[in-house]
Amino acid sequence: MKIIMLGAPGAGKGTQAKMIADKYGVPHISTGDIFRANIKNGTELGTEAKKYMDQGLLVPDELTVKILLDRVADQDCKDGYVLDGFPRTIPQAQVLDKALAQLNETIDYAIDVDVPDENIVKRMSGRRACLACGATYHMEHVPPKMEGTCDRCGKELVLRDDDKPETVLNRLKVYHDQTQPLIDFYSEKGVLRTVDGTQPMEDVFRSIVKILGA
Ligand code: AP5
Ligand code: MG
Repeated sequence: MKIIMLGAPGAGKGTQAKMIADKYGVPHISTGDIFRANIKNGTELGTEAKKYMDQGLLVPDELTVKILLDRVADQDCKDGYVLDGFPRTIPQAQVLDKALAQLNETIDYAIDVDVPDENIVKRMSGRRACLACGATYHMEHVPPKMEGTCDRCGKELVLRDDDKPETVLNRLKVYHDQTQPLIDFYSEKGVLRTVDGTQPMEDVFRSIVKILGA
């Protein structure tokens, strides 16, 4: 099962992708998490990506595409995966399509987690992220058991550098300009499914399970 998560920054792509990965036993691949891990480890890729991420801009396709294609070629991806944050531009989607076509494969579902802009800024300021394992919390909706500490791995939780309100507004603009066209792209392929992302997260997940099958 090959799934793409679409949706604005903060729509809940990561939250739902993790739940899908757990239930269906496929790897969760987040390009954002890969970049943040590289930033944390001080790699060359991380240093380059951070320049763009901190401004709410997209990391250039040349850097992003190779990382993703290498990752989906790993052995654990042979029965499928859930992509979170990739593709984010039409050229990225075309490269992915081409790579899959060479293997005689296609994307099964592109799930758009739909949340209006008004709700987004509020969500982001409450988010806390674990840069070590990628787990995400929300001060109101999903608080960790111990403040500031990840339930899953015990490491420190942080407010992401790009979750400052002015950067979030920029990310929303970039989303509408560059990523939203993917909704038509996948709709034309007949694989687009839309879920209402303003519902509580368990209800969003129930809607997704209805689409994917139990
Ligand atoms: P990335 O990490 O992908 O960030 P994003 O798309 O901006 O999305 P977020 O991770 O912020 O939000 P999300 O939809 O995963 O929401 P979450 O589940 O956390 O990318 C970061 C940056 O990396 C980009 O800006 C770009 O620079 C670069 N990048 C990454 N991929 C790239 C690519 N392919 N090409 C180029 N550049 C790339 O939820 C948000 C909050 O809301 C959480 O606190 C959560 O607990 C809470 N929440 C979730 N669901 C609900 C709900 N139903 N009700 C209430 N609260 C909820
Ligand atoms: Mg995310």
